[in-house]
Amino acid sequence: MADELKRRDFLRASAAAALAGPAVNSARGANGKINIGWIGVGTRGNAGIGWLHDAAPDQVRLTAVCDTYQGYIARAKDRVQTVWGNQPDTYLDYHDLLAQPSVDAVFIMTPEHLHHDMAIAALRAGKHVYVEKPLAHTIEEGWDIIRAWKQSGKVCQVGTQNRSSSLYKKARAMVQQGMIGDCHYVRAFWYRNSAENNPAWRYAIPADTNPSNTDWNRFLGNAPKRPFDKHRYFQWRLYWDYSGGISTDLLVHQTDIVNFMLNKTVPLSCMASGGIYRWTHPDDDRDTPDTFSAIYEYADRFHLNYSCYFGNDHYGYGEQLCGNEGTIEVLNRKDLYFAPELLNGKASEQVKARAVVHLNGPRDFGESDGAINHFRNFINAILGKEEVIAPPTVGQQAAISGHMATLSFKNSKKIVWNESAENYHFV
Ligand SMILES: NC(=O)c1ccc[n+]([C@@H]2O[C@H](COP(=O)([O-])OP(=O)(O)OC[C@H]3O[C@@H](n4cnc5c(N)ncnc54)[C@H](O)[C@@H]3O)[C@@H](O)[C@H]2O)c1
Repeated sequence: MADELKRRDFLRASAAAALAGPAVNSARGANGKINIGWIGVGTRGNAGIGWLHDAAPDQVRLTAVCDTYQGYIARAKDRVQTVWGNQPDTYLDYHDLLAQPSVDAVFIMTPEHLHHDMAIAALRAGKHVYVEKPLAHTIEEGWDIIRAWKQSGKVCQVGTQNRSSSLYKKARAMVQQGMIGDCHYVRAFWYRNSAENNPAWRYAIPADTNPSNTDWNRFLGNAPKRPFDKHRYFQWRLYWDYSGGISTDLLVHQTDIVNFMLNKTVPLSCMASGGIYRWTHPDDDRDTPDTFSAIYEYADRFHLNYSCYFGNDHYGYGEQLCGNEGTIEVLNRKDLYFAPELLNGKASEQVKARAVVHLNGPRDFGESDGAINHFRNFINAILGKEEVIAPPTVGQQAAISGHMATLSFKNSKKIVWNESAENYHFV
């Protein structure tokens, strides 16, 4: 008990330091580890248990795990034991995990429609929060989280981890150095493909899944009630009730990182179109498109052309910053290329002097993506040593781009963002 009180005093001091600003070094007390609770240990959560150990093995302990599928709770217990060397407490209801005073911070890695209630409950319970992208399922829910975060005084990081990737930080620095000149146009894309018997986003459903080991009502949360459906539970990205599909699952990462590289925020407008063109089997009841394009206009004469298709992966993933003096492209989140615009030899000597660049994340930075850095940044922010790079205000900017695309698509209309009123209308 005395140790626990000492630990909490230390963490209170760290939190106060965090509020005072970054770069405040807190003395670490005995037993002064941050206790982490993990809500949602599916695909991302299970991987994250290992990444957190890579990020901050000495600063944190993973003491609690919550999930509504028993198979994943069992898997997480094994994984925590293997990676962290302890047995976590386990919970079916996240409120019970949040009621534990010993839990200082939570990672929320559940389907999109649950982020709102979980993040707000966690902040109100006095926990620091790492919540996966998209911040929330709607624009309005995102504002609720921002309000709860501001009232809480807690650290909150949104899982747009590209911001913590050294490759993207390098790209941003190159833009700031003027290497591509003015940039009015970006092309971003994410292309995927799979065999006919492996439809996009029809992720494997554990063989033992049934209504008694899978808590359907807790999965639904505030989503419309309907009978148990294991496809909806494990393949939630395919249904509007739980996901914005491509817009909020994939596109948000890319609009977010374009914002980061070019210092942009929310676009002025979006026009989106697409449909279900590739995965049309009569038994496939998906709602969300497999073919999607979104055209954004931003202030200052800036245009973002986004496309995503689940029927051909030849071009993979990328963001291409097309400046009038050079191009930066980040491909597959692993390779950064720069090439000057030579204009058939007519470019200025200054532009011609810019050498081509190729950087590779694993080779040059020892990183496969930004996730581990992003976790470390969250923990360091709790310790008062840094500020989070993706607070809810930034996560909301990324999410708004995604929601604008979904709303434009569903309404077959161009959507316009009104920054001062923080709302939208269609034209
Ligand atoms: N940042 C990234 O690059 C990245 C990559 C993948 C996924 N994600 C995000 O991570 C989140 C989870 O995605 P995923 O692919 O792991 O999905 P998933 O379906 O594999 O995992 C979701 C988990 O949440 C659990 N769950 C459902 N309802 C719950 C409840 N009420 N309480 C507790 N647990 C509940 C499920 O049982 C499952 O284990 C999503 O927000 C997704 O967008 C982010």
